[in-house]
Amino acid sequence: MLIAPSILASDFSRLGEQIEMITQAGADWIHLDVMDGLFVPNITFGAPVIKAVKPYSHLPFDVHLMIQNPKRYIEDFCKAGADIVSFHVEAEEDITGTIEKIVSCGAKPALAVKPNTSVETVFPYLDKLYMVLVMTVEPGFGGQKYMADMMPKVELLKQKAPHLLVQVDGGIGIDTIASSAKAGVDICVAGTSVFRAACPKQMIADLKKAAKDA
Ligand code: DX5
Ligand code: ZN
Repeated sequence: MLIAPSILASDFSRLGEQIEMITQAGADWIHLDVMDGLFVPNITFGAPVIKAVKPYSHLPFDVHLMIQNPKRYIEDFCKAGADIVSFHVEAEEDITGTIEKIVSCGAKPALAVKPNTSVETVFPYLDKLYMVLVMTVEPGFGGQKYMADMMPKVELLKQKAPHLLVQVDGGIGIDTIASSAKAGVDICVAGTSVFRAACPKQMIADLKKAAKDA
């Protein structure tokens, strides 16, 4: 299981240091949550902030766009240092065009689904995608409760496209990661559980062990 700590739960006043710390602590990817106050009721940060913190880690930057009409901004985020770009199937009309734009900018494309969106909505694009992100909370905020009832979506994706990566995001911790691991998840995003842990390094190791033992 790969662990992608979400910097949403980090100390924004020292973002660079926090990314450096989590890189040393054994993270696999850095997860960056971009919110526009329109697609979700919260605003975080955009491409200039991602560009500023890019030098603080050699790990892949996994940029989760929770923004309306993401196609307009793909180039900005790729230039800023995004290696994987996830956008929401609910937020864009031109899905194929957005995927193609991500690829032409040199990044890996992923589609995300909110809890109330059926996973079938991403089926037409599976052969073009690097990853599907199954939300296990309503997007917008960290620290919410994990929805185990999203796991049938993961299982369905794994049946349909065994080589496609599947990521879950929201409410992942020591008590919930086993459910995701059993369903076949490849990458877990973890914000609160990792950044609010007394020792993030130990937490990342414990999460990986819990996934392995599942
Ligand atoms: C929610 C974000 C998540 C969030 C996860 O909209 O996409 O990445 O930061 O946070 P935790 O792990 O605290 O649920
Ligand atoms: Zn996220």
